[in-house]
Amino acid sequence: MRGRVELIRLENACFGYGSEPVLKNVSISVARGSSLALLGPSGSGKSTILAGMAGMLASSHGQVLFDGKNLGRLRPAELAEHRLRDFGFVFQRSGLLEELSLVENVALPARLAGARSADALGRAEALLDDLGIERDVRSRRPAEVSGGQEQRAAVARALINAPKVIFADEPTGALDEENSQVVGKLLVDAAARNGATLVMATHNADLVRGFDSIMFVHRAAVTSERP
Ligand SMILES: Nc1ncnc2c1ncn2[C@@H]1O[C@H](COP(=O)(O)OP(=O)(O)OP(=O)(O)O)[C@@H](O)[C@H]1O
Ligand SMILES: [Mg+2]
Repeated sequence: MRGRVELIRLENACFGYGSEPVLKNVSISVARGSSLALLGPSGSGKSTILAGMAGMLASSHGQVLFDGKNLGRLRPAELAEHRLRDFGFVFQRSGLLEELSLVENVALPARLAGARSADALGRAEALLDDLGIERDVRSRRPAEVSGGQEQRAAVARALINAPKVIFADEPTGALDEENSQVVGKLLVDAAARNGATLVMATHNADLVRGFDSIMFVHRAAVTSERP
């Protein structure tokens, strides 16, 4: 951590959906450009932490800082701007829009952020090149490609606005073991190439071996020691 600038900081954060918190007093520091894995069994609170880090779920105590800003104090419009421009998301299921081709799906967040169509499509093509999606596959809709290709397009979509952080929530949950390894590695490489910070939640310990830090979510707490 020394020498690296902090990008995300959770300070005694508590997250929950009702009166009983799911996670209590979570303190995590994520350095800019680093990779953090959150490992833990189903229901332990991994997605909850990602939602808290991305400002989608408020902390009832403590604070969540992104780039020094307290997310809990931002106006909804400011938070939405961060989500569009600074955060990229990859989920267990790609969430690509069925009516659009892969390349149009990848270009969409750039269009929403104000890029012109040709520019957005050009950037989408370049990212799909990087991620090894062949040209004839890009013009197909999600239903007409393999799960691994679809998930790679989801990685490209998460990267198109050059986010500061990529939040990946079980990004390989719908893939077989071989494709999981491929997509997991692509995500790490793509984040590194783009200088993005990567926070990935998974229960697959094999996927996160090369990560800068690994934390374990267990019994309403987050620790750096394997439970
Ligand atoms: N919207 C919600 N409303 C109420 N409780 C919720 C909600 N979302 C999650 N929970 C509860 O919060 C706890 C943590 O859930 P979370 O989704 O963060 O777990 P997870 O570690 O991501 O699990 P998985 O590996 O299955 O995705 C669980 O007990 C879950 O039932
Ligand atoms: Mg989850």
